[in-house]
Amino acid sequence: MQELVGEVLERGEQLVPLIAANEPQLGGEILQELRSSLLDLVRLDPQDVGDLLVGHAAPHGEVEQLAALVVDPRESLAELLHADGDHGWSLTGDTGRYRDAVAELKNISLARGAPSLDIIAVDELRAAADRAFERDPAGAFSYGTSAGYPRLLAWIAAKHGVAPEQVVATNGSMQADAFLFQQLVGPGDVVAVEAPTYDRTLLALRKLGAEILAIPLEPDGIDVEALSRALAGGARPKLAHIIPNFQNPAGCTLSLEKRRRLLELAEEYGFLIFEDDPYVELRFAGEQLPTMLSLDDGGRRVVYASSFSKTVCPGIRVGYLVGGEGLIGEIRKLATQTYISPSMVSQAIVAEFCESGAIERSIETVKKALRGRRDATCAALQEELPEASFVVPEGGYFLWVDLPEGTDVEPVEAASRQRGVTFVKGADFLLEGGENSLRIAYSGVAPDLIREAVARVASAWRELAGAAA
Ligand SMILES: Cc1ncc(COP(=O)(O)O)c(C=O)c1O
Repeated sequence: MQELVGEVLERGEQLVPLIAANEPQLGGEILQELRSSLLDLVRLDPQDVGDLLVGHAAPHGEVEQLAALVVDPRESLAELLHADGDHGWSLTGDTGRYRDAVAELKNISLARGAPSLDIIAVDELRAAADRAFERDPAGAFSYGTSAGYPRLLAWIAAKHGVAPEQVVATNGSMQADAFLFQQLVGPGDVVAVEAPTYDRTLLALRKLGAEILAIPLEPDGIDVEALSRALAGGARPKLAHIIPNFQNPAGCTLSLEKRRRLLELAEEYGFLIFEDDPYVELRFAGEQLPTMLSLDDGGRRVVYASSFSKTVCPGIRVGYLVGGEGLIGEIRKLATQTYISPSMVSQAIVAEFCESGAIERSIETVKKALRGRRDATCAALQEELPEASFVVPEGGYFLWVDLPEGTDVEPVEAASRQRGVTFVKGADFLLEGGENSLRIAYSGVAPDLIREAVARVASAWRELAGAAA
């Protein structure tokens, strides 16, 4: 057995099926469950989880112990890992990795823009999958068309009041963004972006050789007058990338006046607005605002993207683009060349989830949790870090924090990490500046842990500020 495991490790294969096959008394199902729980909660890569399972399961074979891990992987794993000498880690000979895993377990991540597992509608998703497979096995299990699963396209089209031919459903909205950029942006093309903006947008545009026109963000969205001045001064963007609601990373929302003004500028200077709107459904305070897509009378100036990552779950990987029929037709061709068709299994489940109304219940659960997490974040910042300033978000996942002028957030990030908290530095979302800022993602952390995490960041900052004084 050990030899076999060694060989498999060398080849980099997953160990779980191997253990299950060779140690049937352990029960393949429980191993699979354990593995996916660990992947989810511990965020180890599959290889590490394979190693851990060999360390635990193969030498001991105690199904009860595994079951305990499944019930509460964080605590039990941490406990077991501490006792490394007694638990046969020597199989892979690298105890350091397990210690790292324990450290990782104790970490509180304010870095990940993702929901925690407890706010995902697992039972409703399982039921939607059952119904979807029962109702349309041929549609769910075949390749399908590059445009997406027809019932989902119809649901999205009805939601936005457009024709189904104006929609393409993709594997996550990240794929939609990539297709749009690939279709429209070439080397030297100017693209206006918000500063700060989603780091993956900056990376994608840079890779395509775009010239990035960064326009500052204000508490009510992009500084449209700064954009107007740039346009009057000769800037000719092909595209303006705008995240209108609960912006990633700044958490702010574009006001109605600015939405209208942007449309006017787009019309006057002939550019396209790329309305990247994955957080739109997550408003837990204030008034819902119309999308620029719906305000665009002629239907010529806006391409709209959204996602089911925040309303269903990120793992389902379903997002979409809405735009003019010609552009969407081109993107459908690009999709065919890229992956024949997106995942019909995922899209059939999402279609069923949406049509049945489960999505509305899921959104309510998510919003309620996010509101509590936002409140906990703001209260903790006010108590623990009154020197910091921030705009209170009315929805979404993120909050942008400015530490006092002159702070260098890089050592604060390192010191926070040592205290078991991670966050993303502001500078990662900007071409320049942001040295005294950070992004807090409160989406995946329970309120009591948020308070603890903010207290640790505050103590890191205070210690460094004290040392500098
Ligand atoms: C602004 C923005 N656009 C696009 C995405 C991609 O989302 P997904 O591919 O999960 O739909 C994200 C994800 O966090 C985002 O924040």
